[in-house]
Amino acid sequence: MRNRVQIMHGVNLDALDRRPAEHYGGLTFTRLEHRIEEFAKQLGLEARFFQSNHEGDFVEELHRAPDYADGLILNPGAWTHYAWAIRDALEISGLPAVEVHLSDVKHREAFRAVSVLEDVCVASVSGEGVDGYRTGLARLKEAL
Ligand code: DQA
Repeated sequence: MRNRVQIMHGVNLDALDRRPAEHYGGLTFTRLEHRIEEFAKQLGLEARFFQSNHEGDFVEELHRAPDYADGLILNPGAWTHYAWAIRDALEISGLPAVEVHLSDVKHREAFRAVSVLEDVCVASVSGEGVDGYRTGLARLKEAL
């Protein structure tokens, strides 16, 4: 059964509780990961977690991911909007991926409306807060 999901968070997500609560909900990053783990269990998925503030580390983890995961949930933070190297690494992984954003990126500053990952993801979810990860995991499960 293909149910191993790697959850990858990028730059500044580790400081979630210090970021604007109106966009990010005010919860700690640890709490976010616990909630995601619960959603995954409810869907019969096995989740593992990675976070980095270093783009190269994030790229290298994407290179390794096919060794241990069947699919990916990605929230790369601000890298989403300009990091072509992450987009290419995602393509190299060959894994089905869903992009998830806590905030409503399409209706904030103009630069956030652009995602360089969108074309290599099976779905994009934004503006649903923490529940967006449940939506994203369900979409990923369909793709697995
Ligand atoms: C984010 C949205 C990005 O624009 C921002 O840079 C983040 C978080 C989100 O989850 O809403 O760091 O990806």
